[in-house]
Amino acid sequence: MSLPRGFLDELRTRVSIVDVVGKKVRLIRKGHEYSGLCPFHNEKTPSFTVSADKGFYHCFGCGAHGDVLSFEMQANGLSFMEAVERLASQAGLEVPQATPEEAARSKRAATVLEALEAACRFYEQRLRLPEGREALAYAERRALSEETISRFRLGYAPTGNALKAALTRDGMDEALLVEAGLVGRPDDGRTPYDILRGRLIFPITDRRGRVIAFGGRILGDGQPKYLNSPDSPVFHKGQVLYGLAQARAAAMERGRVVVVEGYMDVIAMSQAGLAEAVAPLGTALTEGHLSELWKLADEPILCFDGDAAGQRAARRAAERALPELKPGRSLRFAAIVGGKDPDELIKAQGVGAMEAVLADARPLADVLWEMLAGGRDVSTPERRAALERDAAELCGRIKDESVKGHYQRELKDRAFALFRPPRPAWTGPKGPKRPWRGAPPEPGAVATPPPARPRDANELQLAAALAVRPVYALKHLETLFRVRLADEGARAYLDAVLAALADVTEDADDATLAALLAARLPEALRAPHAEHAERLRLDTLDPFALDARIADLVATLKDKALVEEIAAVQAAMEREFSDALWMRLRALRQERERLRGLDGEA
Ligand code: UTP
Ligand code: MN
Repeated sequence: MSLPRGFLDELRTRVSIVDVVGKKVRLIRKGHEYSGLCPFHNEKTPSFTVSADKGFYHCFGCGAHGDVLSFEMQANGLSFMEAVERLASQAGLEVPQATPEEAARSKRAATVLEALEAACRFYEQRLRLPEGREALAYAERRALSEETISRFRLGYAPTGNALKAALTRDGMDEALLVEAGLVGRPDDGRTPYDILRGRLIFPITDRRGRVIAFGGRILGDGQPKYLNSPDSPVFHKGQVLYGLAQARAAAMERGRVVVVEGYMDVIAMSQAGLAEAVAPLGTALTEGHLSELWKLADEPILCFDGDAAGQRAARRAAERALPELKPGRSLRFAAIVGGKDPDELIKAQGVGAMEAVLADARPLADVLWEMLAGGRDVSTPERRAALERDAAELCGRIKDESVKGHYQRELKDRAFALFRPPRPAWTGPKGPKRPWRGAPPEPGAVATPPPARPRDANELQLAAALAVRPVYALKHLETLFRVRLADEGARAYLDAVLAALADVTEDADDATLAALLAARLPEALRAPHAEHAERLRLDTLDPFALDARIADLVATLKDKALVEEIAAVQAAMEREFSDALWMRLRALRQERERLRGLDGEA
């Protein structure tokens, strides 16, 4: 909404920036200016200055800078209009409506909001009535407390068209209920119907806590599991974060916000004391989501499933964030391994396990590096150049010059470390291995043949297991991309499997994947491994045992890859120390400890 010119100037002259800032920061007067500890970064000596005359603040430490409106927005996590409204009411000014159309629109929105609020109360009441018994029992079965149920205003949508009947009885037009996304009107003229029926209701609110839509879960199994209200004048699915209103205070206070995948995850975390959790509504993260999140914390933590689909979602979010990065403003990525979501993890292992997952969150730079270099062959100058080209492309998407420069340096350091590990010299299409450097062979000396590479039993067993159940490759995609198998036959087979699965969608099921692989993989590549599987009798294992065997093999190979990577980084550090390498080394060591910790438990 645009405001008439002059209004903002009036507002700025009426409110004193020193008063507004003074509510958050202890200011000490120094001549014409005031100074104090910057509220936007951690500091011990004051570098934050407020100029009453000029009407702005500036931090010499972190560069935060702005006027009274931007302070109000940043310090309280408000939108521009919210800051305007809040300051205007403090100054006794009325915020003007810009145009008649806008006034009309906001009035209509008000009535849509009224209908939604009425619906929310209706659902809440029904949960307490006999007809809501089954839904309430379901909520209890999922361990939701009374307090949680009322905090998130959970409800029950009865079967039939009870909502429409109740709200029209209260004088609301059917057309309004349709506009609010509560009632659907079939094209073929049949009677309009309640959109949500027989479901446990999760009201979706805007950041101020006003109900703008609903999600409804089926009680038990069945499809679709969740149904959401359609978009409406007040609800745009791709912009909304579930739980934001409830999470805001905790997030601002702790400087941390966590993005999880589902309604139940937000609620379970909140009930366990991690109130700073929000979730998109089953969609990928949008720019709108990101800017909402950055109002709450500098480094929102995105928590995804540790499986391939979750990791793909993490990568998409990382790419989406690149253009928006600013100094100090980034993302972190946490992954839950073992196929549980936060709700299930907290139930199974307690909130401490969830805290540990969050504490382990990796920086964006790690995720980008893995996107760039994971599993990549850099054994020739051309391939190394290609990696550098791709790194430059990725950095090019960062708009902020300073952040861009730092990413360029970081990725260069990491590439440098990656290029260091000793590679076997190319021995030519045939013929004896020639030493890479050193004296030419003595004339007349017998050239020794290159030592045959010992076949790695673990790698062969993995290839064999994947030949029995190729779809498991998808489950361990991240790791498989990263490890580089030494055995050439196993590697060629694994590469082919990964290439064949490169374009599958996240929801593809086992049967589809198996059919896809059968169609795309040359039989000659598969057959030797299938035979090996028969020799090892892997094909007679039950699926769970096979699953466990594959997970074991993958973990062993990953550990080996980590050891190699650690040695390479250490070697690079001996040549030239840098902080980036040091951090990389630490991250790798931690990752290895984590991996071994998991092993130990299993
Ligand atoms: P999940 O399937 O992970 O749901 O979907 P969940 O939150 O863990 O649900 P429970 O624990 O089985 O009850 C994550 C999110 O994707 C959206 C919802 O927003 C859900 O919270 N979703 C999922 C849908 O919109 N429709 C669906 O059918 C399924
Ligand atoms: Mn769940």
